[in-house]
Amino acid sequence: MKKVVLTSICLAMLGGLLFFGLQGNNLHAGDGQAIMETRCTVCHGAGRIERAGHDLDGWKSTVDRMMSKGRFGPALSDAERQALLNHLMTL
Ligand code: HEC
Repeated sequence: MKKVVLTSICLAMLGGLLFFGLQGNNLHAGDGQAIMETRCTVCHGAGRIERAGHDLDGWKSTVDRMMSKGRFGPALSDAERQALLNHLMTL
């Protein structure tokens, strides 16, 4: 009986970890999309971004180039840049 209780507790904890882990990922992707929609469409439309089709290296250099475009370039934190890159890779 004790074993059954312990096993259920373990399973419940594992379920919780999986649930929150997956939720975390979804939140990340959502953040990246919001960042793109608010910070990357100031100078050109989202279509230009969606059509670009870069790989990870291409996106890194493109995002860095956008960030260096004077005072209208988006000033992204490391975490925002990473969330944005995660989203760009899903396009
Ligand atoms: C300050 C204005 C400005 C902002 C903000 C901006 N861009 Fe751009 N973007 C440009 C200009 C100007 C060009 C065309 C010249 C060039 O490619 O550098 C361009 C071109 C592009 C291109 C096509 C060229 C290529 O390398 O594929 C992509 C993709 C792109 N931007 C993505 C983004 C993303 C992602 C963001 C948000 C991080 C962003 N842009 C924010 C000004 C901006």
